Amino acid sequence: MYRIALLPGDGIGPEVVNAAVKVLKIAGEKFNTEFEFKTALIGGSSYDKFKTPLTDETLDVCYSSDVVFLGAVGGPDWENLEHHLKPEAALLKLRKALGLFANLRPARVYNSMLENSSLKADVLKGTDVLILRELTGGIYFGEPRGYDDEKGFNTMIYTKEEVERIARKAFEFARQRNKRVASVDKANVLEVSQFWRKVVVEVRKDYPDVQLNHMYVDNAAMQIVRDPKQFDVILTSNLFGDILSDIAAMITGSLGMLPSASLGTKYALYEPVHGSAPDIAGKGIANPIAAISSAAMMLKYSFQMDKASEIIENSIENVLSKGYRTKDIFKEGDKLVTTEEMTNLIIEEFEKI
Ligand code: NAI
Ligand code: MG
Repeated sequence: MYRIALLPGDGIGPEVVNAAVKVLKIAGEKFNTEFEFKTALIGGSSYDKFKTPLTDETLDVCYSSDVVFLGAVGGPDWENLEHHLKPEAALLKLRKALGLFANLRPARVYNSMLENSSLKADVLKGTDVLILRELTGGIYFGEPRGYDDEKGFNTMIYTKEEVERIARKAFEFARQRNKRVASVDKANVLEVSQFWRKVVVEVRKDYPDVQLNHMYVDNAAMQIVRDPKQFDVILTSNLFGDILSDIAAMITGSLGMLPSASLGTKYALYEPVHGSAPDIAGKGIANPIAAISSAAMMLKYSFQMDKASEIIENSIENVLSKGYRTKDIFKEGDKLVTTEEMTNLIIEEFEKI
């Protein structure tokens, strides 16, 4: 039995979480796995009730679960609140409370969506990259930091422990995939990168079955656009990962289709990359694929239900290949469907396989 904390949040958050839960329930039935769901408030919806975007009750629901599944937070109603009361502040606090140090962003291209990308179809076809970004260290947090009239400065620092734990995750994920890790750094100019490289090589000794290569970040940015198929797992630091994951996201097409996960030692949080989309909230037209695909990631990476995860991804692919599209990815000639219709179509495919 797995316990899943559901934090639907604001805007389209509840709509897409609802879709993902429907798919999870079917996957649970098919694979004889019981899921227990507990729902809690976060973001603006929590603020409206409790005058804070993240309560201790919500944190407790997360602490007592195996994983957290989040929709999205934020919206115009809460934009002018003080910084620490804003819905987005809840996310930062939650990630910190759960010790989530690794961010996973897969860039996978569904065959029937190849034409949505700015890249050529033959370059893109078959792309399936997992970017693993260190999330709690590096230059975004390093001390000293500051600026005065004459200079500005930040510190890029990584400890052995920080590099080791993220590297270990990378090799473990690679084992569940195509057994290749590309570690991205800037070791030709940065000492912190030379250190990063040294630690990664050391950790790799425990994973002799996984292939490791190193790449400079400028080259990696170029290679993701030139030939994304060459990558399996990309392991990188906070700053480089921030940039590379957005590049990788762009080559795959729509924001409504991108899943993500943030992992710690004990907890994991899964969420679609997109926000609360206030412009379409409540209309029943949000694309549920990012959330459903995040649920598929959860099955694979937290519950070792690789088969169920793969079937969900294949079901999404099949539905897309039949021409069904929500409004955000709709083009002339496609079949326009609502959130609910798209979800049910994916479930129908799932039940066929
Ligand atoms: P957004 O991702 O919510 O929306 C950007 C555009 O993409 C909008 O036109 C929206 O309709 C569309 N879109 C996004 N997801 C979609 C989906 N599943 N289906 C169909 N269309 C979709 O980003 P935006 O507008 O910058 O932010 C809106 C609110 O969300 C803000 O309050 C922001 O702070 C918050 N936000 C929250 C995040 C989170 O909870 N992790 C992440 C990003 C933004
Ligand atoms: Mg970014």
